[in-house]
Amino acid sequence: MVENPGPLARFQAPFTSHRTLFAFLCVATFASVFLWQGNEINGFLVLGGVVSGWTPPLLRPVAFNLTDFGGVGDGVTLNTVAFERAVSAISKLREKGGGQLNVPPGLWLTAPFNLTSHMTLFLAQDAVILGIQDEKYWPLMPALPSYGYGREHPGPRYGSLIHGQNLRDVVITGHNGTINGQGQSWWTKYREKLLNHTRGPLVQIMWSSDIVIANITLRDSPFWTLHPYDCKNVTIKNVTILAPVYHAPNTDGIDPDSCEDMLIEDCYISVGDDAIAIKSGWDQYGIAYGKPSKNIIIRNLVVRSNVSAGISIGSEMSGGVSNVTVENVLVWESRRAIRIKTAPGRGGYMRQITYRNLTFNNVRVGIVIKTNYNEHPDAGYDPLAFPVLSDISFINVRGQGVRVPVRIEGSKEISVRNVTFQDMNVGITYKKKHIFQCAFVEGRVIGTIFPAPCGNFDQYNEQGELVKHAVSQNVTDIDYEI
Ligand SMILES: *[C@@H]1O[C@H](CO)[C@@H](O)[C@H](O)[C@H]1NC(C)=O
Ligand SMILES: *[C@@H]1O[C@H](CO)[C@@H](O)[C@H](O)[C@H]1NC(C)=O
Ligand SMILES: *[C@@H]1O[C@H](CO)[C@@H](O)[C@H](O)[C@H]1NC(C)=O
Ligand SMILES: *[C@@H]1O[C@H](CO)[C@@H](O)[C@H](O)[C@H]1NC(C)=O
Ligand SMILES: *[C@@H]1O[C@H](CO)[C@@H](O)[C@H](O)[C@H]1NC(C)=O
Ligand SMILES: *[C@@H]1O[C@H](CO)[C@@H](O)[C@H](O)[C@H]1NC(C)=O
Ligand SMILES: *[C@@H]1O[C@H](CO)[C@@H](O)[C@H](O)[C@H]1NC(C)=O
Ligand SMILES: *[C@@H]1O[C@H](CO)[C@@H](O)[C@H](O)[C@H]1NC(C)=O
Ligand SMILES: *[C@@H]1O[C@H](CO)[C@@H](O)[C@H](O)[C@H]1NC(C)=O
Ligand SMILES: *[C@@H]1O[C@H](CO)[C@@H](O)[C@H](O)[C@H]1NC(C)=O
Ligand SMILES: *[C@@H]1O[C@H](CO)[C@@H](O)[C@H](O)[C@H]1NC(C)=O
Ligand SMILES: *[C@@H]1O[C@H](CO)[C@@H](O)[C@H](O)[C@H]1NC(C)=O
Repeated sequence: MVENPGPLARFQAPFTSHRTLFAFLCVATFASVFLWQGNEINGFLVLGGVVSGWTPPLLRPVAFNLTDFGGVGDGVTLNTVAFERAVSAISKLREKGGGQLNVPPGLWLTAPFNLTSHMTLFLAQDAVILGIQDEKYWPLMPALPSYGYGREHPGPRYGSLIHGQNLRDVVITGHNGTINGQGQSWWTKYREKLLNHTRGPLVQIMWSSDIVIANITLRDSPFWTLHPYDCKNVTIKNVTILAPVYHAPNTDGIDPDSCEDMLIEDCYISVGDDAIAIKSGWDQYGIAYGKPSKNIIIRNLVVRSNVSAGISIGSEMSGGVSNVTVENVLVWESRRAIRIKTAPGRGGYMRQITYRNLTFNNVRVGIVIKTNYNEHPDAGYDPLAFPVLSDISFINVRGQGVRVPVRIEGSKEISVRNVTFQDMNVGITYKKKHIFQCAFVEGRVIGTIFPAPCGNFDQYNEQGELVKHAVSQNVTDIDYEI
């Protein structure tokens, strides 16, 4: 029952087997019936696989459609002005409770643009905001004060594709629409050293509060994907973040940076650098800026990082990091699962960090603390500014296919204080003498710990009774580079 066999005749030549032709005819038949029904019954128009007539929820008193401002979702037309006009219209609705911008299905190419307060950006299913690749459309912005530099080059840096600063009450959500940075050209230019400035993030919100990012997909950022900088009260929920796990340099998933009161939950992140990296500024610039990251909850995530780590803190942490809880996280097929990284010169602190219910599936190193991550903005850092690391707990850690379950490498100047391991069972695929490696670390293990902990820890049983005193707090037992 092929309804309209006419145009099919033209496509017959390339088919080399009857089976392929049969498969094609089935699809074509289904599609034409669907088209016919769609037109007849619902008034839904199905054209080239794009469904229009979607009904976004009304989340603000007033909603606009990007097409109201001249937007064209053909993947070729530049929509920067349409976005700017929409944002400008919404900025006038402050007293009325703000406005919502609906981005319909389609490919909406744009240069970077700024958000406004009391705004909801709503991406339909199959709506894709595409970042233009030509860097001349990307405005330069001053270096972040707590970094002193663009991260990769001195001086200014490219702004982000979707940017906001000094805002309140911003929501980016949708029916799982996508913001796609088309980072490929940036990664190539970065590798070939053709860029004179630090690449821009995909979404960067600075000096803002009451931010919600939910129910969307972020893909192929030129640089860090989602960068909340010096913000308060940020929720990131049910977001998918994707970049190639290989050859997509610095495509961190989420970088909470000098932020407080943040919740990151129910996300899937698979990227070319750290899935999450909590930061707070770099060496003397971060110390001077003095803004910690604190009160952060990260939970119910599945993350993957082939080149770096699932959940990182640092290495830029000069404003301090405290009160962080990471729980119910699965890290799979990754180089490292949990990483804390710092160096002399950073100053600051990392304390009250709790990890609970972690699962590692095929990772090379499970938990790593590194205190000589010697990457500095310039020679002006103070080599005697030693960060303080303390009060770090790992509770209920499971894993399989982990080559080195634990590697805590403190140093004489940066010793790691008050570390707790409670109930750990991380299987090993690679049999090596030192699989729970320690240097300059002090603390306790409680309950059943596999593999057997190093001698740096006091050992307690399930009942909390001391079984064995630490024997070798400062012994260096790190035998090979990971
Ligand atoms: C937005 O405008 C487009 C084009 O006019 C239309 O197809 C679509 O249904 C509109 N969407 C909403 C939510 O109004
Ligand atoms: C966004 O706003 C900031 C601050 O006003 C400005 O520096 C930047 O150039 C703006 N970005 C765009 C794309 O207009
Ligand atoms: C996550 O987002 C998807 C797509 O928008 C939605 O269908 C789903 O209900 C959301 N889940 C949660 C837990 O919010
Ligand atoms: C959202 O889209 C991404 C990318 O297509 C997909 O991997 C993810 O499963 C989707 N999320 C939901 C909740 O449907
Ligand atoms: C970088 O600077 C060089 C020398 O000034 C210039 O030729 C080149 O076009 C610049 N590249 C970019 C991407 O701006
Ligand atoms: C945090 O932001 C959310 C979303 O805007 C808002 O509903 C909530 O009231 C804010 N919380 C505080 C403590 O301000
Ligand atoms: C995300 O999607 C869920 C499920 O549809 C919905 O309940 C929730 O309100 C959405 N979140 C936002 C911020 O739009
Ligand atoms: C730690 O952070 C949690 C979650 O944000 C918060 O509820 C709690 O009050 C914070 N604790 C301290 C001591 O600030
Ligand atoms: C532990 O985390 C996993 C996800 O990695 C989750 O399925 C499980 O329910 C969590 N267990 C508890 C006790 O919360
Ligand atoms: C990283 O990716 C490469 C190339 O696909 C692969 O050979 C390697 O095993 C991966 N490493 C990890 C830790 O998954
Ligand atoms: C050690 O850290 C734990 C939490 O990780 C905390 O409850 C305890 O008070 C700390 N002990 C000292 C002596 O600071
Ligand atoms: C271990 O090293 C730390 C820092 O260098 C020092 O304060 C402490 O006294 C040393 N402990 C022992 C038992 O040698």
